[in-house]
Amino acid sequence: MIHPRIIVVENPEEMGAVAADQFEALIQTKPAALLGLATGSTPIPLYRELVKRANEGKIDFSRIRSANLDEYKGLSPDHPQSYRKFMQDHLFDHVSIKPENTIVPDGLTEDVDAMCAAYEAQIEAWGGVDLQLLGIGHDGHIGFNEPDDHFPAMTHEVKLAEMTIEANKRFFDSVDDVPKAAFTMGIGTIMAARKVLLIVTGADKKEILRQTFWGPVTPQVPATILQFHPNVVLICDKAAYPF
Ligand code: GLP
Repeated sequence: MIHPRIIVVENPEEMGAVAADQFEALIQTKPAALLGLATGSTPIPLYRELVKRANEGKIDFSRIRSANLDEYKGLSPDHPQSYRKFMQDHLFDHVSIKPENTIVPDGLTEDVDAMCAAYEAQIEAWGGVDLQLLGIGHDGHIGFNEPDDHFPAMTHEVKLAEMTIEANKRFFDSVDDVPKAAFTMGIGTIMAARKVLLIVTGADKKEILRQTFWGPVTPQVPATILQFHPNVVLICDKAAYPF
C-alpha cells in the first residue's frame, strides 16, 4: 500500500489555503494544466481562496482547462442545484478561465454513452488530468462512484445511493426534488490523474476517512482505491483526522 502525504490543518479555512497552495504551485509550473474539479460544501473555502489569489494576480486561469467530476442527471446547466451552476458561482465567473476550457458532464444528454465517451475523449485530448480534487461522501463515494461490487472504469451513469440522496437533500426544496441518478467520472478516470488531492473536513467524516486509508481496499468503499494511487495528498482538518 502507498500511503498518502498527509497534511493536518486546524480548520476548513486553513484547508482552503493549503489546498490553494497545491493549485498555485501547479499552475505556476504548468499554465495550461488540466484541473479535475469537485463540488460539495468541502471545496468552498478552497474556491474562495483561489478566487482571491486570482484577483491578487497570483494565479492566472487564462490558459487553464478544467473537467468536473460529476453532474446530476436531468438538471440543466442553469438549474440552481446543478454542479455546472455551482462551478460558475464559486469559481468560473470570478476568474479568467475561458468557458470553452471548462467541461462538466451534460445532465440533459439524450445519448448517455456518446456523452460519456466524448467526456473521456476531451480529457485525453487535453493531455489528462494534472491535479484531481476530491471530496468524499459519508459512504466513501468519490465523484458519484457509489459503493458497488466493482470499481467502474470510465465516465458513466450511476443510480445514487439512499445515503447520498439524504445527504444532498439539504440543497433542494424536498427529498423528492433530489435527482436519483447522475453522471460521474469513473474510478479509472480518477486514478489516471497524475496527482490526487483529497480534502476532508469535519468530525462526521472521521470514520470514513479512517476506512479510506487505514481499512481494506474494497469497491464497497470506493475511496479505498486511493491506497493504490502513487501520488495522493490528503488535506484534512483536526476534526476529521482519525488519530
Ligand atoms: C457529493 C459530490 C461529491 C462530494 C460529496 C461530499 O455527493 N458528488 O463529489 O465529495 O457530495 O460533499 P460534501 O463536501 O458537501 O460533504
